[in-house]
Amino acid sequence: MAAPRGEFTSRFGFLMAASGSAVGLGNIWGFPTNAASNGGAAFLFTYLILAFALAYPALMAELIIGRYARANAVTALRTISSGNKTRLAALLVGFIGIVTVSFILSFYGIVSGWMIAFFFDPIARLLGASQLSAWLTNDAVMRNSLFVVLFMLVTIYIISAGVKEGIEKWASRLMPSLIVILLLLIVYVLTLPGAMDGLRAYLVPDFSLIADPSLLVDAMGQAFFSLSLGVGTMLIYGSYISSNENLPTIGSLVALLDVGIAVMAGMLILPAMYVALASGVEIYDDAGGLIAGPGLIVSVLPSLLTTMGAIGVFVAIAFFALMTIASLTSSISMLEVPVAYAVEHHELERRRAAMLIGSAITVISLVIVFNFDPLFDLVVTVTTEVSQPLLGFAFCIFAAWIWQRSEILEEIKQGCPEVESGIFWKIWPFYVKFICPVAILVVYFQ
Ligand code: TRP
Repeated sequence: MAAPRGEFTSRFGFLMAASGSAVGLGNIWGFPTNAASNGGAAFLFTYLILAFALAYPALMAELIIGRYARANAVTALRTISSGNKTRLAALLVGFIGIVTVSFILSFYGIVSGWMIAFFFDPIARLLGASQLSAWLTNDAVMRNSLFVVLFMLVTIYIISAGVKEGIEKWASRLMPSLIVILLLLIVYVLTLPGAMDGLRAYLVPDFSLIADPSLLVDAMGQAFFSLSLGVGTMLIYGSYISSNENLPTIGSLVALLDVGIAVMAGMLILPAMYVALASGVEIYDDAGGLIAGPGLIVSVLPSLLTTMGAIGVFVAIAFFALMTIASLTSSISMLEVPVAYAVEHHELERRRAAMLIGSAITVISLVIVFNFDPLFDLVVTVTTEVSQPLLGFAFCIFAAWIWQRSEILEEIKQGCPEVESGIFWKIWPFYVKFICPVAILVVYFQ
C-alpha cells in the first residue's frame, strides 16, 4: 500500500522548499555569468520582465494543477484531461517530464559534486594536507565519481524521509543559512579593490544589446531553468500545499525570492571576478568574453581565493557551502518528481523508490563522468534547451486549453475566495492561453 500523501505543514515550509528548488546553481552561477556576457543590466532588465511575465504564469499553472490533482505529474495531467487523446498526451508529457528531470539531475549532481570537493579543499589546506588539496581540486574521473555518489546519497537520504521530515525540514534549515552566507559574502567582497568595476559591469546597462535575439533566448532559458519549470517539479510541490493557502500570493513570493537571490548573486560574482582581475587573475577567455563556464567557479574564483591568504580559506569554505546548499535544495526537488510517481503509481515504498531511482540516476551520472566530453554538453543541451521549453509549452496548453476554466477557478478560490474580482484572474488565464505558448515557441525557434 502507498503511504498517505505528505503535506507541507506551514507557508514558511513551502516557501523554503519551493524557493530552495528554484534557487540553485542556475541562480548563483548561471544568472550572473549570463548577465555578464549579455550586457549586464540589459540582461537583468529583460530577465526581470520575462520572469514575471512568462515564468510566473507558467509557475502558477504547475502549482494550481498540482494542488488540484494532489498527485504526481502523470496522474495530475490525466486528471485534468477528458478525452482519450488528451489523456494519452498527458501520459506522454508527464512521462517525458519525469525522464527529463532525471537527466537534469544526472548532470546537476556532477557539478554539485565539484562544489563539495571545493568545499573540502580549504579545510584540507587548513589542516596542512596539501596532497589531499591537490587531489580535491584536480578534475579527475575518480574524484568526480566519488563526489557525485556522495552528493546523490545525501539527496536520496533527504527524499527518503518524505515531504515533512525530509524536504520541508531540510529546506527550512538550509535556505535561511544560504541567505545569510550570501549576504555576508557580498558585504565582504564589495570592500575589496576592483569590486566597484564589477558592480558597474553588472548594473550599468548596455542597451545596444537589448534587441539581440540571443539575449532573449538566454533570458528565457534562464528564467525557466531557474524556476524549475516544465518537468513537474513545481507541480509536485504544489500538490503538497494545504488547501487554505492563497496560491497567487505564494507563487509570487517564490518568484520574488528566486529573482531576488539571483540578482543578489550577481552582486557577489561579478564584483568577485573584477577583484580577481585586479589581483592579476585572468577573467577573459580567448574570445575576449568573460569566462562563464565551469572555469569561472572551479578556476577563476579559487585562484582569487588563494591570493587572499588566511581569510581566503574561510571565504572559500563559505562560498562553496553556499553552492552546496543551493544545489542540494534543488536536487531534492528533482528526485522527488520520479519518486512521487513511483510511490503513487507503482505503490512502491518511498524509501525503496528513493534508493532505486536515486541509484539509477547516479549510474547515469557515472556514465557521463566517464564519457565527459561527448556526453555532458549533450545532456545539458537536450534537457534544458530542447525538452524543457517544449514541456513548458505543453503545461501551458494543458492548463489553459484542456482543463476546464471553472475548475481552475474553484481550485484557486480555496484559500483565495476573492480571486475572481482580483487582478490575477483578469490577466492570468489570457496569459497562459495565448501569450505564454506563443512566446515560448517564438523564442524556441529563434
Ligand atoms: N532551479 C534550479 C536552479 O536554478 C534547478 C532545478 C531544480 C531545476 N529543479 C529543476 C531545473 C527542475 C529544471 C527543472 O539551479
